[in-house]
Amino acid sequence: LVQSAMEKLVPLAPDSWIPGGVPDPLIARKHGLIGTPVSRLDGALKVTGTAAFAAEYRFDGMVYAALAYATIARGRIAAIDSTEAEAAPGVVLVMTHRNAPRMATPPIFGSSPTGVGPADLPVLQDDRVHWNGQPIACVLADTQEQADHAVTLLRITYDVEASTTSLAEAKAKGIEQGLFMGHPLLNEVGDAEAALAAAPHMVDQVYRTPRHNHNAIEPHAATMAWIGDTLTIHDASQMVSQQAQTLADVFGLKTEQVRLTSPYVGGGFGSKGLWDHQIIAAAAARLSGRPVRIALSREGVYRIVGGRSLTEQRVAIGARADGSFEALIHTGLSVMTPHNNMPEPFILGSQAAYAAPNILLKVEVTRMHTLANTFMRAPGEAVGTFALESAIDELAVQLGIDPVELRLRNEPEKDPVNGRPFSSRHIAEAWRSGAERFGWADRPAPGTRQDGEWRIGVGCATGTYPYYRMPGAEARITLSRDGEDVRAKVEVAAAEMGMGTATTTAIVAAERLGLAIEQVEVVYGDSAIPGAIMAGGSQQTAAIGAAVIAAHGELVGALLKLAGNDSPLAGLSPSEVGCDDGSLAALADPTRRERYASILARAQRDSLSVTKAGSMPLETMHWSMHSHSALFCEVGVNIVTGETRIRRFLGSFDCGRILNPKTAASQFRGGIIMGLGMALMEETQFDERNGRIMNPSLSEYHVPVHLDVPEIDVIWTDIPDPHTPMGAHGVGEIGITGVAAAVANAIYNATGKRVRELPITLDKLL
Ligand code: MOS
Repeated sequence: LVQSAMEKLVPLAPDSWIPGGVPDPLIARKHGLIGTPVSRLDGALKVTGTAAFAAEYRFDGMVYAALAYATIARGRIAAIDSTEAEAAPGVVLVMTHRNAPRMATPPIFGSSPTGVGPADLPVLQDDRVHWNGQPIACVLADTQEQADHAVTLLRITYDVEASTTSLAEAKAKGIEQGLFMGHPLLNEVGDAEAALAAAPHMVDQVYRTPRHNHNAIEPHAATMAWIGDTLTIHDASQMVSQQAQTLADVFGLKTEQVRLTSPYVGGGFGSKGLWDHQIIAAAAARLSGRPVRIALSREGVYRIVGGRSLTEQRVAIGARADGSFEALIHTGLSVMTPHNNMPEPFILGSQAAYAAPNILLKVEVTRMHTLANTFMRAPGEAVGTFALESAIDELAVQLGIDPVELRLRNEPEKDPVNGRPFSSRHIAEAWRSGAERFGWADRPAPGTRQDGEWRIGVGCATGTYPYYRMPGAEARITLSRDGEDVRAKVEVAAAEMGMGTATTTAIVAAERLGLAIEQVEVVYGDSAIPGAIMAGGSQQTAAIGAAVIAAHGELVGALLKLAGNDSPLAGLSPSEVGCDDGSLAALADPTRRERYASILARAQRDSLSVTKAGSMPLETMHWSMHSHSALFCEVGVNIVTGETRIRRFLGSFDCGRILNPKTAASQFRGGIIMGLGMALMEETQFDERNGRIMNPSLSEYHVPVHLDVPEIDVIWTDIPDPHTPMGAHGVGEIGITGVAAAVANAIYNATGKRVRELPITLDKLL
């Protein structure tokens, strides 16, 4: 009995992850909440329509906003005649650069820890037009329909200036080294070009990926009101505190003068940040003295919310006859505006992928007058793995080696670029279990399988995404007592885009505190909560986990202090106790214990609250840390129409300990579905004559619908990483990576056609 009680106890976790340090004790727990499938705690609220999204809040006297978007790529606004619009029914305000309040330029993303502005541009402060689609006027009216109508009555004329809207012209004008978060996208090991030239076998190809736009199910929206000099804004946000701070910077306010809430978000994928619409609506609300709701149309999202930039990537691999790599080259070009700082960093997934003695990775950039691009699910890796993993397939065909085997032969022992050991890398296990489940060994020879008018083929690819953990996360845990019962409130400045963060946080906190999940309430999505976390880089769960570890340590210390000398726990230090069943107990003798409720009651306390920041993310300085996948795809390509249908897809993942199998499986599947869209459909059509996006709607920009998505099988190794909180890796972005290559490789296997340009539409297969 004592033995089993000891196993249930969750001791304190170390506060940081140092080489050779003690792993998080939750890793070793076998029978707890972690690893049990838990449905999303907010699921019922969402499916019953009870959860209030950003465009569903309402204030007394609220008016509705509509935006006018520039129709030239670059120049000046010569005149705006607003007479007719101002006279239209219900119109409250027409705001342009002439009457907008003076505002500071939002600090661009990455320029400071809290700066999350989209581009280095002032918003509605002058007559300049920087991209085709820039918002240049805002109409407020009593109803959305009145605002939408009045905005069409604005008469706007322009002085057009020369612009760069064609890729060829941009390249001719200049190419520069790309930077990502201030660091050059350049890695060199040995002399890759010389090694490629000397290698007995090689592939050397160019792969192209188009622009992609964000299409979250919830278009961007915000509802806001000024009360005196304080702005309250209900937004759809994946970076809650940072957006509030950037808005404060724009309006010259103190941090606490902006309160931003965002409890529910209908998808973000990198796009639910600060764009011009929140700034313009807040300015219009201030100018009119009325609360404002702004809900972008789908077209509006295309005009002002950035997406993924296009890429042209060269991948060259030099190899010996046994398949071992001599040289790996992954270089190429991405595009951005003169006013932002994020090229598509497509080499990130190549840095730790394969062992090669000579490596050259480089992203260069050219500039075009377009909307600022931004993060889009696995920025870099999503499209970079298409090129890299297609090239590996090409090499496998050339060498006559099974592509799974070719990858395994080039497994690195340590990070080939930075030399660090891997914290946890079990790709081989993911390949083995995936291949077995998919039936890879039984695959037919290329071009030999047909089913009616369908050519059938199978392909595989590796996906990868780094483990990150941003600093700045804090957690506040409040234990409160109601008689014999105790409840915990866990407050984190986190964002939930619908991926299950709140649920997973409840699981992790409940298990660490030794409480049932029903006893834990997670509060998030509110800039009033201390600390700053971001739902980005697939790192939020680890960042929250580290903050909960720190706060839990603090709470146990505070409880022991309250327990005092009359407690069975008297004399024990925090490292000598563990939590379970709503109690603290001695690790060495779990019969020595006291319930939280009893400790609080004896101290005549109704509640106890602690706040603590998570440790600095030192682990990523010592290890090379990544999530991995092995992907298998079966396609049918129609002989008559050229249409590709996905018949089967399997993702075999190695992402550390899986905390909530139910939400993790959804993340993997969702990522794979986006990857299928990237492979076969998604393409922003961009008019190179005038910089206008030509397909700003879901009727012309295609994403997969249910009929396009087969059953997607997902499995995982569930091997904990000893160097992360809870042993977990992020699972948000890994899913999309590698998928387009698995599809392209399967299409090659079916048809013998190698398509190196996404999306693989039917015209490319006829
Ligand atoms: Mo993600 S593209 O870091 O939301």
